[in-house]
Amino acid sequence: MRSEELVVKALKDVLGDKLSAAELQQALEKPKSLAIGDFAFPAFSLAKIFRKAPQQIAAEIVAQISQAHFEKVQAVGPYVNFFLNKSEFSQTILQTVLQQGQAYGNQDLGAAGNVPIDMSSPNIAKPISMGHLRSTVIGNSLAKLLRKANYRPIKINHLGDWGTQFGKLIEAYKLWGSEAEVKADPINKLLEYYVRFHKEDVAHPELDDEARAWFKKLEDGDEEAMRLWKWFRSESLKSFMKIYKKLGVEFDSFNGEAFYNDKMDEIVTILEEKQLLQESRGAQIVDLEKYDLNPALIRKTDGATLYITRDLAAALYRKRTYNFVQSLYVVGNEQTNHFKQLKAVLKEMGEPWADEIHHIPFGLITQGGKKLSTRAGRVILLEEVLDDAVELARQQIEAKNPNLENKEQVAEEVGVGAVIFHDLKNERMNNFDFNLEEVVRFEGETGPYVQYSHARAMSILRKAAAAGDKVALAGTYSLNDPDSWEVLSEIAAFPAMVKRAVNEYEPSVIAKYALHLAKAFNKYYAHTKVLQDDVQLGARLALVKSVATVLKESLNLLGVHAPDRM
Ligand code: ARG
Repeated sequence: MRSEELVVKALKDVLGDKLSAAELQQALEKPKSLAIGDFAFPAFSLAKIFRKAPQQIAAEIVAQISQAHFEKVQAVGPYVNFFLNKSEFSQTILQTVLQQGQAYGNQDLGAAGNVPIDMSSPNIAKPISMGHLRSTVIGNSLAKLLRKANYRPIKINHLGDWGTQFGKLIEAYKLWGSEAEVKADPINKLLEYYVRFHKEDVAHPELDDEARAWFKKLEDGDEEAMRLWKWFRSESLKSFMKIYKKLGVEFDSFNGEAFYNDKMDEIVTILEEKQLLQESRGAQIVDLEKYDLNPALIRKTDGATLYITRDLAAALYRKRTYNFVQSLYVVGNEQTNHFKQLKAVLKEMGEPWADEIHHIPFGLITQGGKKLSTRAGRVILLEEVLDDAVELARQQIEAKNPNLENKEQVAEEVGVGAVIFHDLKNERMNNFDFNLEEVVRFEGETGPYVQYSHARAMSILRKAAAAGDKVALAGTYSLNDPDSWEVLSEIAAFPAMVKRAVNEYEPSVIAKYALHLAKAFNKYYAHTKVLQDDVQLGARLALVKSVATVLKESLNLLGVHAPDRM
């Protein structure tokens, strides 16, 4: 339990239903100095309710309140000041962490319900963009958070592997492509053909007809079209897998858009039966005016299906396959309208679970304040970013700890961790500017800083173990100096942070939390001789061990490794 919760509970026991727990929590103040108390409750808001002076109310509360868990509770004017029993509180918290280990902070919010997470989902024959990176790392962290809160996440990579662009790509390949070129450098070559197609079709509009014909063939299962498509898909996937491997992200399913090819007729039939489909200039649409949205285009004039048609089929398939309690889509906020339409059409279809569909949007990564764009040459190649970060980590290790074992592995974990952490410490809806130097900086509010703090804690524990010193919770120990108390309050706050991160789908809560805990720990470490041989040694080690446990678990929830040595 957090220290605040102890105070709220004690107040609630006296005040009954006069104020809710949330209101009490809201009203609590943190006095500037610990000499005044750890928490102060101002009685002003109760004056009206009780028709008494706040001073009198404060005095009456103190007369009735349970002193358990507190050193003392005092009325000072209109305030009730609480002094926590810190040694009791710290023992309880440390005992809990040491007992539960990595399970500390686990929540039971999900009752083991399935939650598909549509994440990453890059497009075949194009490089993975920074947007896809965000989706990948946010989705991965949400999966870990959800699991910690007793949901069953299912990570789905809804590959962009279907659509008219594949007609264009096949046409372009037939005109200018070579097998050897594609094999040597698949993504770049395929992208090059595609870009060339868009240049040339300005002067040669007949190319578009050819492309459309190829896509039609593809939809009809034509052998050559299928062969090429499968090949482009597998080459692209191979290069995506390299990046996923570097990032340490795995998926439960790669059912992309093409997977729903034979599942869209059913959607069209349902929409027809429910009389939701309307003709509009030869195309078939669902009107969404009552939702204040543009109509959803389900089928084009030539019968071709669209992105949303496939998403409708995917939503239904996921409901049937996983019987989900929630279905998440971690996709950039530029697709907000698409997901509103998706939900609205499902609602029109009478699917009650439409309400459990949640778009988890995120902001743009910009460079020099501008949107990244392939055409303007503002591309950031994810693989290069990762490689640069790892190289920088390698240099740091070389400088600081040249004798480290598994240098290579640690450099990978630190470099890649830096990139992931940098992304996740930003609230997901915020846009942020990408600056390589800043990402791989190892001081300040970075992943490596948190990793270093964890490694430092581990190193203290190793030294203690070598000297035969044991982690112990001596009964006399009281962590009431401000530095340990700060560390302890942070540790105690972890479960609430997990809960908040899950409820808000916000990994940045954990990243920011890890930075606070690391900072508090480093301050503690700078002022305290942990390994000094006195009666409190065991308890100090318990604190250090708890810090290591919680830092490691925080990093783990972000998808970042916590090496034991750096
Ligand atoms: N492939 C899409 C893109 O890169 C993202 C797909 C998101 N998922 C979905 N079910 N629509 O923009």
